[in-house]
Amino acid sequence: MNDIQNRADIELLVNSFYEKVHKDFDLAPVFEMPQEQWDTHIIRVVNFWENWLFQTGSYNGGMMWVHLQAHEKHGLSTERFERWLALWFMSVDTLFSGPKADFVKNKALEIGQIMNAKMNA
Ligand code: HEM
Repeated sequence: MNDIQNRADIELLVNSFYEKVHKDFDLAPVFEMPQEQWDTHIIRVVNFWENWLFQTGSYNGGMMWVHLQAHEKHGLSTERFERWLALWFMSVDTLFSGPKADFVKNKALEIGQIMNAKMNA
């Protein structure tokens, strides 16, 4: 199995993750949004990971604020964080293996723990 090598790989990973999210009873409602907002969301998430993995400068930040808003609107419970992370890990492990695949799992876990502590402490 290959490691994540480029932006196309990140797009594949993010799309495969959201396929699972959309089928998930608990998470799907949080991600219901107009197509235009959705298209922008995907680009921002791909930019986010590309910036971490390949230092492209393509993500300009502000993710904590975005999630605080989502928390106000939908309630990002600890259970939802756990489910989100489980689907992310599953998506990564199905497609990729290597240091970059490990990195995106560890980074998501780290960020998820920080956000969960802020929202559900
Ligand atoms: C309970 C778990 C989570 C839920 C329900 C959730 C939900 C959301 C929602 C609703 C948005 C905004 C979509 C939009 O309106 O455009 C968003 C953005 C985003 N999420 Fe999450 N999220 C969760 C956890 C995480 C974690 C652990 C990461 C770790 C990397 C992450 C990464 C991102 C990124 C990079 C964005 C884009 C931020 C931006 O636009 O600048 N999310 N998320």
